[in-house]
Amino acid sequence: MPFAEILFEEKEPGVFLLTINRPKALNALSPKIFDELESAFRELAQNTSARVLLVTGSGDKAFVAGADISQFQNLTPMQAFAVSQRALEVFAMLETLPVPAIAVVNGYCLGGGCELALACDFIIASDNAVFGQPEINLGIMPGWGATQRLTRLVGRNRALELMLTGRQVTAEEALQIGLANAVYPREQLLQKTIEIARTLASKPRIALQLIKQSVQRGQDLDLGKACLIEAEAFSLCFTTADQKEGVAAFLEKRPPQFTGS
Ligand code: CAA
Repeated sequence: MPFAEILFEEKEPGVFLLTINRPKALNALSPKIFDELESAFRELAQNTSARVLLVTGSGDKAFVAGADISQFQNLTPMQAFAVSQRALEVFAMLETLPVPAIAVVNGYCLGGGCELALACDFIIASDNAVFGQPEINLGIMPGWGATQRLTRLVGRNRALELMLTGRQVTAEEALQIGLANAVYPREQLLQKTIEIARTLASKPRIALQLIKQSVQRGQDLDLGKACLIEAEAFSLCFTTADQKEGVAAFLEKRPPQFTGS
């Protein structure tokens, strides 16, 4: 399906690249982009040969510089609630995709852009990336998940400091506080991330999905209930051909040939 404000392509077998493509507006997220993201996520969730999703921004300057601020000019409170709900719904689709999703942060990653990255499973950044939740400077607050996802990721006090001050964070600091998993020179970013994606694509698909689900389902539960979710997911691995292959390959001292089934 052709898209107007995103690009969506299979970069190499199983590795999909989704690019937010409004470089003139620093890839600010418009309502149309959310419709296109929803379609792309739906397509990906149904594609059993998909292994990894990479999410990035078009151009040299920005991953995503936030929500499109022009849409906020005349919003009523109820419309603002709907804008928030729509983004939260689409970001939840991203977060619960059956495949790992990596944010490939290639520049400004602000406001709703940072919230998009936070809905991915992890973040790989270029050395020129800039993170932040600057909503406070617009007289508003984060509305697409940062008060929750940023807080869970970097801890309450750091998240509060970032959201209350609107301060921008360099890639180096993002790495230090656990917001980014790795930082690479700008010109190597995509290649390095594709190497990570290849590693993920070589792993057993269903076990990858079950790890992701267990972390997400368990993170807000007490330890006992959360570990039970893990035990159930662990047992499901034993329904797969890849489990049989993985164990057999180890015992036969050969590399495994996973099929994703
Ligand atoms: N929405 C709409 N347009 C945006 C935008 C945004 N979030 N960010 C940048 N743009 C547009 C600019 O208006 C400008 O357009 P024109 O060329 O038509 O004037 C173009 O992108 C280039 O931007 P700048 O000229 O400002 O570029 P710069 O290099 O001088 O500054 C920047 C870059 C620091 C990222 C600056 O653009 C900026 O501060 N952008 C806004 C960042 C922001 O506040 N994001 C949070 C949005 S609110 C939000 O996301 C709420 C939420 O949680 C849901």
